[in-house]
Amino acid sequence: MKFFVDTADIAEIKDLAATGLLDGVTTNPSLIAKSGRNFLEVVEEICGIVDGPVSAEVTALEADEMLKEGRFLAKIAKNIAVKVPLTWAGLKTCKTLTGEGTMVNVTLCFSANQALLAAKAGATFISPFIGRLDDINLDGMELIEEIRTIYDNYDFKTQILAASIRTANHVKDAALVGADVATVPPAVLRGLAAHPLTDKGLEQFLADWKKTGQKIL
Ligand code: E4P
Repeated sequence: MKFFVDTADIAEIKDLAATGLLDGVTTNPSLIAKSGRNFLEVVEEICGIVDGPVSAEVTALEADEMLKEGRFLAKIAKNIAVKVPLTWAGLKTCKTLTGEGTMVNVTLCFSANQALLAAKAGATFISPFIGRLDDINLDGMELIEEIRTIYDNYDFKTQILAASIRTANHVKDAALVGADVATVPPAVLRGLAAHPLTDKGLEQFLADWKKTGQKIL
């Protein structure tokens, strides 16, 4: 499973990229607003830090304008994935942009039929929003499973990018049902390594090691 980080916070991206475990970044207009920075500048900076796909979202609603924005964003760097909403205008834009060799992430997916359309439009990534479905008492993970089955049935190459992840269990469950990628907030990503028994065991090992009076270097 690939890990993307879901943030526009440069310090967080640099820190996580340094682990060598980061495969990409997703941003959205809300995350850009939170960063308080200029959209184009921040996206260009992220593309210089991470080699993998960096999602940058269009804001136009009509296909013609969306396509213009998408082409403009695609020129920022070769690892830009243009993010378009799951609307008919977004699907049309997706088809054109992927035909031109640009990666496209179709976002705001909340149903299997939407995901089927995105795959037919040649999307590089489909982003089903797990947390937002859970928020309204639906089952986000069930949607990931349905999409996995449909994509496997027809051998679609569109990668399932589990989005709106809120917990470490979301990451584990998305991996179990076969999501290709998880885009995860920085705090949740860091939390994946945490276990109280790891901390306790390490403390004990170091206490016993100290008693030996030895040093490795
Ligand atoms: C995905 O690309 C989105 O940016 C993100 O996962 C949305 O998450 P949220 O529902 O926590 O805002």
